Amino acid sequence: MPRPLLCLCLAACAAAAGAERPIVSRPGLRRPILVAKADAPPASPIVGKAELASSIINLVKAIVGAGVLSLPVGIAKFSGSRTAIVPACVIMLVVTTLCALLGATPRRVAVTGAGGQTGQHAFRKLLAKTGEFAPLGIVRSEESRAALLESGVPEEAVVVADVTDAAAIAAVMKGCDALIIGTSAKPAPIGTDEETGRPIFAFPNGQPEQVDWLGQKAQIDAAKACGPDTHVVICSSMGGTDPSNMLNALGRESLPDGSTKGGNILLWKRKAEKYLIDSGLPYTVVHPGGLLNEPGSKREIVIGVDDERDVGERSIPREDVAEVLVQALVIPAYRGRSFDIRSKLEGEGEVTTDFAALLEGLGDRNCDYSLGEIA
Ligand SMILES: NC(=O)c1ccc[n+]([C@@H]2O[C@H](COP(=O)([O-])OP(=O)(O)OC[C@H]3O[C@@H](n4cnc5c(N)ncnc54)[C@H](OP(=O)(O)O)[C@@H]3O)[C@@H](O)[C@H]2O)c1
Repeated sequence: MPRPLLCLCLAACAAAAGAERPIVSRPGLRRPILVAKADAPPASPIVGKAELASSIINLVKAIVGAGVLSLPVGIAKFSGSRTAIVPACVIMLVVTTLCALLGATPRRVAVTGAGGQTGQHAFRKLLAKTGEFAPLGIVRSEESRAALLESGVPEEAVVVADVTDAAAIAAVMKGCDALIIGTSAKPAPIGTDEETGRPIFAFPNGQPEQVDWLGQKAQIDAAKACGPDTHVVICSSMGGTDPSNMLNALGRESLPDGSTKGGNILLWKRKAEKYLIDSGLPYTVVHPGGLLNEPGSKREIVIGVDDERDVGERSIPREDVAEVLVQALVIPAYRGRSFDIRSKLEGEGEVTTDFAALLEGLGDRNCDYSLGEIA
C-alpha cells in the first residue's frame, strides 16, 4: 500500500476509535458531566441533553483527530526524501498515544459509606487510580463531607445522600458505572444490662432493617437504573449462615407478647445480598471476618464460603478488605461471586498480592443462600 494511503487509513481508524467513546466524567471539573450509558434509556431530559452534548464533543474530537493525524500524510506526500517516513511515523505514534490517553474514560464508581472506615479506604484507593476510576463518595452527613474535603478530597468527588432516601440516592448515582456499598447500621452501647452486667446496644442512626435492607435495596435499584451492566460490590459480613450469631442480637428488643423488634443485622444484610444476586446485575458480595484497623498489604488473605474456617484468623484489616472491593471492579472473574475473606497473622504465609489467584483458590464455589436465614 502506498505510504500516504497507509497513513490516511491509520489516521481514520484512530479518529474513529476515539469518536466511539462516551464521555462519562472529567476529573478536574467542579461538577461531573453525567451521561447515560449506551444501553441505559435516558432517565431524564437532563441526561438526554448530556448525550447530545457528548455526541457533539465526540464529533469535534473525530474531526480534529483526523486533521491532526493527517499531518504525517502531508509530510510523507510532499517530501521527496525517503527519510520523511521517520518524522511521519514519530508524529503518528505520539498523536495516537495522546489520543488513547486523553480519550480513555475513567469508570465512575459510586462508593457509599465513603466517610466510614472500610468504605473510605476503598474510596481513597479509587481516587488514587486517576484515569482508571472517577469515584463519587456518598456520605450521610455534611459533617462527613466536610471531614473528607478537609483531608484533601476534591469537592466534586463527595456528595451527601441518605441511603434510606431512595429518591436522593437514585439522583446522586445517575450516570455511574459501578457501585461499592460500604454502608451499614452501626450499633452503639446505650447502657448496661443489670442482670448480666453486659452492655446494651442500640442503633441510634437507623435500624438494620432501614439501613442494611431498605438502604441497600435503594442503592441496588439506583444501580439498576444506571444500566444493566452496573457492577455492584457489597461489603457485608461473615456470620450470615448462623441465625443465632450474637451480632443478630444487638439492638433486638423482646416485647411483652414474646415477639422481638429490631436487630437481626446479618439477616437483613443477607436479604439485600439475595436481592442483588436476583437482580440480574453483575455482583460481588464480600463477607469479611472481624475488621481490624491495621495496615493492609501485610498479610495473606484467606478466601472461603459459608463461614467455613479451617486455617487462619477470624479477622482481617479493613485496608485489605477495601483492596478486595477495588480488585472486584478490576478483575472480571470477581463478577457473579459471593465469598468470605479473613487473613492469616502478619508474618504467617505469604502476603497476598495476586488477587486473581486469590479468587482462583475458591474454584467455582459461591456462598450458599439456602443456608441460615434471610429476614
Ligand atoms: N466491625 C466489624 O468487625 C465487622 C466485621 C465484619 C463485617 N463488618 C461489616 O463491614 C462493613 C464495613 O464496616 P466498617 O466498620 O468499616 O463501617 P463503618 O465505619 O461503620 O461505616 C458505615 C458507614 O455507613 C454510613 N451510613 C450508615 N447509615 C447511613 C445512611 N442511612 N445513609 C448513608 N450512609 C450511612 C455511615 O455514615 P455515618 O458515619 O455518617 O454514620 C458510615 O460511614 C459493614 O457492613 C459492617 O457491618 C464489620
